[in-house]
Amino acid sequence: MRVFFLAAAVLAAFPVAAQDIQGRNLAAACAICHGTDGRVPAGAPVIPLAGLPRDHIATQMRAFRDGKRPATVMHQIAKGYTDPQIDALATWFAAQKR
Ligand code: HEC
Repeated sequence: MRVFFLAAAVLAAFPVAAQDIQGRNLAAACAICHGTDGRVPAGAPVIPLAGLPRDHIATQMRAFRDGKRPATVMHQIAKGYTDPQIDALATWFAAQKR
């Protein structure tokens, strides 16, 4: 789990101009659970993020981060992200094919 926070911290230290590159890089930390590019095999227990509405992803991430949505793991993970990083993640996942 520590690796994810480290990755987020490293990325945060090097702001990338193109938001989609930043979103893709940040999304690598989600792939282990939500699947490569946010797609999971049929029947997998975790929600695929690919193609979900941008606002939904961003709202849920903020709710996890701010303790407004109870979770088993996402409240921990979401804590590491700034608002611009959440927006970059949400934009990137929303643009992926379901
Ligand atoms: C360790 C596994 C794991 C990782 C890594 C992970 N997630 Fe999750 N995610 C979950 C689980 C499990 C849930 C269901 C809520 C819960 O119990 O935490 C979830 C739920 C979500 C939801 C809510 C979806 C919905 O429609 O309700 C969003 C959005 C989300 N994750 C985004 C992300 C993003 C963005 C990342 C990468 C920064 C990420 N997750 C990394 C396991 C993970």
